Amino acid sequence: MEKKKVYITRTIPSVGVKLLEEHFDVEINTEDRPLTKEEIIEKGKGKDAILTQLSDVIDEEVLDSLQGIKVIANYAVGFNNIDIDAATKRNIQITNTPDVLTDTTAEMAWALLFSVARRVVEGDKYVRNNKWKMFSANLLLGQDINGKTLGIIGAGRIGKAFAKKSIGFDMKILYYNRNRDEDFERELNAQWVDRDTLLKESDFISLHVPLTKETHHIIGEREINLMKKTAILINTARGPVIDEKALTKALKKKRIWGAGLDVFENEPSIEKELLELDNVVLTPHIGSGSRETREKMATLAAKNIIAVLKGEKPITPVNEI
Ligand code: NAP
Ligand code: GLV
Ligand code: GLV
Repeated sequence: MEKKKVYITRTIPSVGVKLLEEHFDVEINTEDRPLTKEEIIEKGKGKDAILTQLSDVIDEEVLDSLQGIKVIANYAVGFNNIDIDAATKRNIQITNTPDVLTDTTAEMAWALLFSVARRVVEGDKYVRNNKWKMFSANLLLGQDINGKTLGIIGAGRIGKAFAKKSIGFDMKILYYNRNRDEDFERELNAQWVDRDTLLKESDFISLHVPLTKETHHIIGEREINLMKKTAILINTARGPVIDEKALTKALKKKRIWGAGLDVFENEPSIEKELLELDNVVLTPHIGSGSRETREKMATLAAKNIIAVLKGEKPITPVNEI
């Protein structure tokens, strides 16, 4: 019997590729660049499954051109790059990679928070630029983390993991989420509050919502103006949940203390003025980027494809078909 065919739109850790190669004919884009929509369509034709990246736009046009595809396995937990309703209507199974990246991404949010609060990146630049002369009482003063109020916007898997990691720093936890989670409240003494209360009362605010119509620009000029002047905003969710222009303006005039951003509205392009500001730490969408986790994501995406092409239920489906 002829082997089924899988297309991988961009290189992933080899453990995932090897797993797929045990069952299928696998073709990979080995170029270090994302494919255009036309290329995805061209390459995806005649395949049974595609393993996509979060930068691949899988809209109705692509789905219409890919008749015959049974499963699209996104190499990410977020799936805002895929038109899920359109896929469901066409009987195409979509899968993602939740859970395996939860702690890794929460750790990245902490890495950013510490970097901004204690001015780690500024300090590093200062030393490398040979500016450091001696210990100085007023040099690069930051803010304490301990004892402060942490505000979580989107208390799902990653938001809650981020909150849990505050144990040891004696923090007050506020969270804003569509639904209440009383176990989480009990465990961390967390308080469910409305968005404006969270923005007004938190010292540090971390975003963990998926990108949807409702969360687009959930933080804009109005919301920033509710924050404390000393607030730090962390985003490891998706760029468009923040109005990047409004945030840049606010950081420039020091309306808030700082920000740590792993994701951007128009990745990989970044609001130009952000690059010139010292009160923001920027990372290139590496929230899930530990070697261990990226391997787990590759394995999970591969196993999802194997399950669906064997006629079984995937491990982590996004849609019901
Ligand atoms: P999750 O478990 O689905 O958590 C998302 C949370 O956001 C849920 O609790 C959900 O509440 C809440 N939410 C959704 N829409 C909302 C709204 N309109 N208002 C308030 N709360 C809302 O997802 P996750 O695994 O934690 O991942 C979260 C996101 O992180 C992903 O979607 C992805 O975009 C991003 N991410 C980024 C990186 C990175 O590399 N930087 C890595 C991993 C993930 P309900 O209970 O109502 O559903
Ligand atoms: C990464 O951004 C993901 O959604 O997994
Ligand atoms: C600082 O290095 C101190 O000893 O307080």
